Order: sequence, then C-alpha cells, then structure tokens
Amino acid sequence: MIWTIILLIQAAILYCILTHRKRYKTDPPLDKGIIPWLGHALEFGKDAFKFLARMKKKHGDIFTVRVAGRYVTVLLDPFSYDLVLTDRDSLDFSQYATVLMDRIFQLKLPHHMQNQSKVIMKKHFLGMNLIGLNTSIGRHLHNLMKAELSVNQKDWKEEGLFNFSYSLLFKAGYLTLFGEQNNNVTDPSKIYKEYRTFDGLLTKLARGTLKPEEKKLSQSVRQRLCALLSPVGGGEEDSGAGSWVHSYRRMLQDEGVDHDTQNKALLMQLWASQGNAGPAAFWLLGFLLTNPDAMTAVKKEFRGISQTSETCLFNVKTPVFDSALEETLRLTAAPFITREVVREKTIHMSDGQEYRLRKGDRLCLFPLLSPQMDPDVHSEPQIFKHDRFLNQDGSPKTDFYKRGRMLKYYTMPWGAGVNGCVGRQLAIHSIRLFVYMVLTKYDIELCDRNAHMPDVNTSRYGFGVLQPEGELQSSHKDWRCAQWCSGGGTLESRCDTALQGLNWRLLLRAERRLLDHCPPHAPGLTPATETCLPASALLATC
Ligand code: HEM
Repeated sequence: MIWTIILLIQAAILYCILTHRKRYKTDPPLDKGIIPWLGHALEFGKDAFKFLARMKKKHGDIFTVRVAGRYVTVLLDPFSYDLVLTDRDSLDFSQYATVLMDRIFQLKLPHHMQNQSKVIMKKHFLGMNLIGLNTSIGRHLHNLMKAELSVNQKDWKEEGLFNFSYSLLFKAGYLTLFGEQNNNVTDPSKIYKEYRTFDGLLTKLARGTLKPEEKKLSQSVRQRLCALLSPVGGGEEDSGAGSWVHSYRRMLQDEGVDHDTQNKALLMQLWASQGNAGPAAFWLLGFLLTNPDAMTAVKKEFRGISQTSETCLFNVKTPVFDSALEETLRLTAAPFITREVVREKTIHMSDGQEYRLRKGDRLCLFPLLSPQMDPDVHSEPQIFKHDRFLNQDGSPKTDFYKRGRMLKYYTMPWGAGVNGCVGRQLAIHSIRLFVYMVLTKYDIELCDRNAHMPDVNTSRYGFGVLQPEGELQSSHKDWRCAQWCSGGGTLESRCDTALQGLNWRLLLRAERRLLDHCPPHAPGLTPATETCLPASALLATC
C-alpha cells in the first residue's frame, strides 16, 4: 500500500515537472486552469463563447490557455488577424485539419491530397462553373419544394423551421454536387436522416468525448453513410455540374486510396459542403419572421426581381438581402480559425505590444467574439439589424471602425486569407435562392406569433454556423392555395392581400393556374381578368 502511494506521488511530481510551463516576458498571459492536464477543457467545451469572453475580460486580446494537455493561444485583436491568415511558413492549417479528419471521419489522407482537393474545388466552384451549379441548385430546390407541398394542399403544414431549412438545402446541395447525372444516386432523404444523426455527434467526435453507446452509434451511422455514398462519383464522367465529385474520386483513385477511404473522404466533403448553408438559412428566415420590418424590406426587394432572372438569380443585385444575410452570419457564424505554430512567430498587437508564439502551441482566432460581437465595432451587437451592412443610399456598407481605426475584418463568417472558404459564392447563392423561393412561393408564418428566436446550442461554438437548442415552429403552405382557396373577404380584397406580399407577375401566373389547381376550394371564381382587377390594373401601368 505504502509503495503504491509513493509511486503515485512520484508520478504526480514527474508529471508536474514535465508539464510545467513558465511564462516568459514575451509570452502572452498564461492561464492554465486549476485541473491538472485538463486545464480549461470542460468550460471550453461547454460554452466556448462564455469562457473566452471571460478570459478576454481577464487578460485582454491575447492569452494562452491549457486545454486537455495542449496550450492554445487565443488571439482576439482583429487588427492582427492578417498576420495569421497570410502566414503559411510559421502557421499550418492542415495539421489540425488532419487531426479533426481522423477523429470525426476516421480518415487519414496525406497533406498533398488536401492541397490537390482544394485545387479541384476551386476549379469547379468558382468562375463559369458556378453558373451551372446555381442553375442546378435552383432546379433541385424547385422540385423539392414542389414535392414538399403539393400544389393542391390547402391546409397549413406545421414543421420546425430548422428542419425545414436544413433538409431542403441539404438535399438540393447533395443532388447538385453528389448526384447529378448519377443514375445510382441515393434517395437524398435517406442521406439527410443519417447525416443529421452524425451531425448531432460531431462536436463530441471532434473532442473525443463520446459515451460508449454514442461511440457505437457514430460508428454504425458513419458506416451507413459511407455505404450510401459508395456509388457516388464512380460512374461515367460528365462535363456538367456534377463533375467535381468525379474529379475528386478520380484524384483519390489515382493516388491509390482504397474504396473505403474514398467513401470516408466523400463523407467529409459532404459535411464541409452541406453542414453550414442550411443552418444559416434557418437563422435568416427566423430573424425575418421575428422582425417584420426586415421581412417587409427583403420582400420588397424580391418583388423587384424580374421573371427572367428568377430561376437562378445569378446576376441580380440584392443589397438588402445581402445585408440581412451578413447580419445573420455576424450573429451565428462561429468557427474557430485554428493553426498549428510550426515555427516561432512574433505577433504585433494594435496597442504596440509584441508577443512570441511558441512552436508546438496551437493558435486560435474566434471572430464571433471579436470583431462580430464587439460593441466597439457593432452597436448593440446582440440585436439583429437587417440594414447594419447598408449605407443610407442603399449601397453595401463596408467601413467599420474600432478605436477610430478602420477595420479590414469587421465580420468573418467565411474565414479569410489562404484558407478562406472555397464554397462561399455557392453557399450565398443557395441561401438566397432558397429564401427567395420560400418568401415568394410559400405562405410562411410562425405558429406562435410571439415566439422568440431559440437559444443556441452552446456546445457547437467553434464548428461553423451555430445550431439552435430546440426548434422554432413555423407553418407554411403553397401560397397559390393559401391566398385564394381559403380566407374570407371578397375576391378583390384577396387579390390585394396577395399583392402586398407578392410579385405581381407571380400573381398573374397564379391567376392562370387558379382554376387548374384549386377548383374545389374556390367556388365562384371566374376568369382572372374579372376577378383580379387590381393585378390587371397594375399590369396596365407597367
Ligand atoms: C454558410 C455556409 C458556409 C460557411 C459559413 C463556411 C465557412 C467556412 C470557413 C470559416 C472556412 C475557413 C476555415 C479556416 O480558415 O480554418 C471555410 C473553409 C472551407 N470551406 Fe466553407 N463555409 C460554408 C459553405 C461551404 C460550401 C458550400 C463549400 C463547398 C461547396 C465549402 C467549402 C470549404 C472548403 C473546401 C474550405 C477549406 C479551404 C481550405 O482548405 O483552405 N464551404 N468555410
């Protein structure tokens, strides 16, 4: 017994000697926490925003914390971000990405393949190819929405807004990037269901904190997803929008990667490409539904979009929508921008101080805390203001200041610099198309008109766009029936109601379809010109 105690004491002393870290004058403030080895890991994992805000208050814009045996330097001075985002020599993006790939997807790929994969993505997701992808997303969204709410449905359909947004954007994105021209394409609903289970375990997978039964579940759902993705990208190559997945699979094959690993790599790409747009669309729709002024402004802008541009909205300018989206992402995009320090580096802070980053430590930026929620940069940062990124004249606002100095990074949902988001344009177009379709083709409202936005799931800080804790219940229906087949009032007043929310062209199109779609619910409807005088009158003035 006595020997066991002596051995334990010796082990503890040895541990303290080996892990002892002294702070030098040039080091950022050091906060190891009181729990040996773990340090601040528990608080960090539970609510990183709250923890880092507390550390910022205690230490300022740079500090080093111990998290599960690692020393992580957190930098929160946006004037110094460029030094990090443009440095490939001292700071490495792929080492930490490799750790996460292994933990989440059990995937090991050599570094050079990550670079090759990025080259392929840039080729397919930027420039002219983006137009094809947009058209494809638009077509899939249209079909999925049509299937979601059949045109004859006259009753409101109740659903959680998060699931509604995530499922539609996920399926449209999946069909566009993984399914086009592929005859073996798996039912997107099946993939979505499995994916959501996997997504729910993601943060615990990344932190290695799964309980035994969750570990089993994660393994089985990962296997099922890999099996579902197995046929993807393996068929005849086409030259259309889906060719990214063929090029990607072929690159892996040419490098001698086995089929199982190829499928895990595809699962990782599914997560990277589909994990953020749906949640972002949810927050945006939620903010619009709980802020009537914002909803009116966005709908007004959408009403001005001509019918010819409607299918893919490619060259359409929508500054009001863009500002509302940027504001949404300011509040909800919460990635950690993480880099391994592979060579000692000095960070120059805006207050003139200099600090040394030690080789072997990890560096982390958290733009949600600074600059996105910094009251010195954005007034009343907790509040959604749809026009925060608009000038008085309606042009996009890009000048934001901190301590009188103009900021380059006043919001950073897409990262920036050499490892900034490759899918940014595609994601923006997909969200815009989705919100446009929902607001112009659906009647959508909150089940509880006084409902507030749900809280965020605090365990997801650091993993891209946040997700809600719980749901925001909404009801929606195909507006053609919603506007015409139910409700009281004269037909003329129904026309006026429809006009308030909708584009007049859509209204006229609806007139043409009315008798086809809604005869049992619209007794007494006569041809459009007689019943819809306001719309015809409006047409005459155009
Ligand atoms: C709302 C949607 C999205 C958000 C908020 C988002 C955010 C981000 C952020 C913050 C990074 C930088 C990570 C870092 O520097 O450590 C990033 C990187 C990346 N994103 Fe996105 N993303 C979105 C959608 C997409 C889509 C649709 C795709 C692909 C189709 C995509 C592909 C990528 C890739 C490949 C990288 C890594 C770039 C590299 O290796 O250097 N993202 N994204």
